[in-house]
Amino acid sequence: MSISAERLQACVGSRRTFAIISHPDAGKTTLTEKLLLYGGAIHLAGSVKAKRARRAALSDWMEIERERGISVTTSVMQFVYQGIHINLLDTPGHNDFSEDTYRTLAAADCAVMLIDSVKGVEPQTIKLFQVCRLRQIPIVTFINKMDAFGREPMDLLDEIEKVLGIPTTAASWPVGSGPNFQGVFDRWSRTFRHFEKADAGSRRAPMTVTSIDDPGLRQALGASWHDRLLEEMDLLDGAGDLFDRERFLAGQVTPVFFGSAMNNFGVEPFLEHFVELAPAPRGRRTESGLIEPASPFFSGFVFKIQANMDRNHRDRIAFFRICSGRFERGMEALHVRTGRTLTLSRPLMFLAQERTVIEEAYAGDIVGLWDAGALRIGDSLSTGQPVEYEGIPRFSPEHFVRVRLADPTRRKQLQKGLDELSEEGAVQIFQDRQRLARDPILGAVGTLQFDVIKHRLKFEYNVDVLYDALSFQYARWVEGPGFDPAALERQSWTTSCVLDAEGRPVVLFENEWNLRRAVDDNPQLSFIASVQPARRGRAAS
Ligand code: G4P
Repeated sequence: MSISAERLQACVGSRRTFAIISHPDAGKTTLTEKLLLYGGAIHLAGSVKAKRARRAALSDWMEIERERGISVTTSVMQFVYQGIHINLLDTPGHNDFSEDTYRTLAAADCAVMLIDSVKGVEPQTIKLFQVCRLRQIPIVTFINKMDAFGREPMDLLDEIEKVLGIPTTAASWPVGSGPNFQGVFDRWSRTFRHFEKADAGSRRAPMTVTSIDDPGLRQALGASWHDRLLEEMDLLDGAGDLFDRERFLAGQVTPVFFGSAMNNFGVEPFLEHFVELAPAPRGRRTESGLIEPASPFFSGFVFKIQANMDRNHRDRIAFFRICSGRFERGMEALHVRTGRTLTLSRPLMFLAQERTVIEEAYAGDIVGLWDAGALRIGDSLSTGQPVEYEGIPRFSPEHFVRVRLADPTRRKQLQKGLDELSEEGAVQIFQDRQRLARDPILGAVGTLQFDVIKHRLKFEYNVDVLYDALSFQYARWVEGPGFDPAALERQSWTTSCVLDAEGRPVVLFENEWNLRRAVDDNPQLSFIASVQPARRGRAAS
């Protein structure tokens, strides 16, 4: 079915796709759930977490997530709020899984930076912020836990500006703190939103809206809080703290909201403003130029692959970001890397862990594609020109182990498991040049990834493995004329040259000194820290 250019433009214009970035425990799960509550996608907060716990019991590999109380998977949640189709990408907060988070941010058009009012800017916030900055993603800040005895709002803004180096503009302002947190003053509508607690935060909090000029406001807040609010507003207004949308879209200033996700205080005003602030999908870079989202052809890229989400079905789902045009169930698209045509027959959308088969989707949306093994992270699909989207790098691992089989007869299953897990991006596999497929080396950005792999190999592939720790710390993909792996190894016996899953040479170094020496001694070679997965014509054989 064809669609008019106007309708396509309108559908694309109503999409908002974002991710929440935060340090673990800042309240990301809680805020996500509250956004779903206010977005009408769930009716009782608490259900997402409860469901997650229930599923964890069913799906064995998620046990590890439950045991450690962390989120190791990335999922997408979709809902419609005030006619806007929202794709909320969930990112794992744990440091060890930051690679997954980087990939997710490649699929987002905007980020919400969540900060704990007690702890302020934390290490993981800084790391993730830097990724957003590199990608020039606009960032909206939500300072959470205002119901706790947190830091002064002015101090928090100051810290964001100093530590992250991004100017802030307060969109809302808290009145009261700790148990006296009463609500937020919305600077843009100049109204005060007064909240009451409701059912321990499981339902929407009743909210009263009062204009700043309303004589009743002083009485409602109490004289001292009212005086303080007026004083602080004067201070902010006097500092010329005005919002500049262009600078926000360029990632050069962040509007800041305050609230308490747990109590639902400030969540609704945040969501109302967020759908206006967050940009609709914009043109995206490909190897052959910028592709506009309302282009007449469908295209996009895979940013995540998740196998065995449902163990009973042994499925494998590729999470796909649509970058242009309209997607229809059953459509055929060119798989650009291989030049083959794929039929996209059962596209899925997600509400937390629930999935629905959909008939259509538009640029900005994230869809799940059933995948029989053809797709890899970074792959592009298109019904028009064979475009290849940029931006899903593979990072160089910092931890390495050699994998040994407890039962040598399970080698085939091990191979299959490792192949699938590496295609998912859960771990990187390297082979010795001499030993070939025997006892491969695994590389990870964080060591927790190794635990997850061991667990998943056991429960999903019925393979028990042992790890031997290796002392390498750096991996570099090497390119250049006359590259001789054996010669490089001879220069230092603590260096090893292996092959990645796509057959490309990678050199592992035990320490920075060795790496520096190799770089200095071999000026004709490039030592590359992060690479794009194999492109067309360079696919693994
Ligand atoms: P995360 O996904 O970022 O790791 O954080 P999560 O939402 O799991 O929240 C971490 C802890 O912070 C939880 O407490 C949660 O209840 C609490 N929290 C979230 N929002 C607020 C808030 O607005 N105010 C206050 N005071 N606390 C908040 P927990 O004790 O670890 O878990 P739980 O037993 O409450 O679920």
